[in-house]
Amino acid sequence: MNQDTFIRQLPKVELHMHIEGSLEPEMMFKLAKRNKIPLPFNTPEEVRTAYQFTNLQSFLDIYYQGANVLIDEQDFYDLTWEYLLHCQQDNVIHTEIFFDPQTHTERGISFDTVINGIHRALEDGKQKMGISSRVIMCFLRHLDEQSAFLTLEQAIKHKDKIIAVGLDSSEVGHPPEKFTQVFVKAIKEGFLTVAHAGEEGSVDNIYNSIDLLKVSRIDHGVRCSDDSRLVRLLAESRMPLTVCPLSNIKLKVFDEMKRHNVVDLLRQNLCVTINSDDPAYFGGYMTDNFLAVAQSHSLTEDELTQLTQNAIEASFVSESEKHRMQRVLEEFSSRSIG
Ligand code: ADE
Ligand code: ZN
Repeated sequence: MNQDTFIRQLPKVELHMHIEGSLEPEMMFKLAKRNKIPLPFNTPEEVRTAYQFTNLQSFLDIYYQGANVLIDEQDFYDLTWEYLLHCQQDNVIHTEIFFDPQTHTERGISFDTVINGIHRALEDGKQKMGISSRVIMCFLRHLDEQSAFLTLEQAIKHKDKIIAVGLDSSEVGHPPEKFTQVFVKAIKEGFLTVAHAGEEGSVDNIYNSIDLLKVSRIDHGVRCSDDSRLVRLLAESRMPLTVCPLSNIKLKVFDEMKRHNVVDLLRQNLCVTINSDDPAYFGGYMTDNFLAVAQSHSLTEDELTQLTQNAIEASFVSESEKHRMQRVLEEFSSRSIG
């Protein structure tokens, strides 16, 4: 089996994907028409051409605008279902997706509309495609902690559908310590925690997410390489990093894939995983991310398999569900040798 085939067929586990970031331009047009929302573009191709980002903020400005076409529960269902079709195509066996409730509640869409649409699609994904999933609710860090508290209140009655809370949006200027109290409350309510840290921001954000927000995983975390003590700590603790290679190139975190540090971190025994972040905006889903890394770095089949192994280890599921995924991976490994 050549390496492209190996990568395409490798069972994958995704741990970092914003559902609003899976809004493909075609879906944007479909929903804009259905909901009678004007778009500042004439065709999906024009939208794609506009996706030229210089940094995280230049992306976020366009990304929040795109989400305006999402109005009804069915819109959130359709969005999630389309993402699951990509998962099926890419042999993603389990996915843990983010949603940003404040992006929607701030424009008058109810929390229930959003979570119910996403949840219903994920249930169908489990039943009809065998793809298991979890949902992580992110607080927008450019908004204040009070708004995060109000969002947490709304999430309480949906605890059965939400495994964890996270922190996303503009990292620089909005450090993790701004949200310490709301994370304390979320943990008391039984949620696990994660946070975007060390994407554009400094290693302090990684340390403080671990120490103050008690995170179980760091989203991105690639700036850890600035601090060799932190790299050792992450390796020894097996703190997972949900790395998003194509995103990091599009948002200029690294100049080119050859300079990306994910393979280096893998070889230093960090629990790194590969993820798509906002696939509709950054040019690819899971397989595309694996292929892009493998084209610029020579990776063995064992190393590629280890990336899925790491994601299983880092996932928010029971031990028995982890074992089920490990068996799928082992079965693939024995088939691919033969
Ligand atoms: N929201 C969606 N994608 C994001 C990213 N890469 N960083 C921070 N917030 C985000
Ligand atoms: Zn992200």
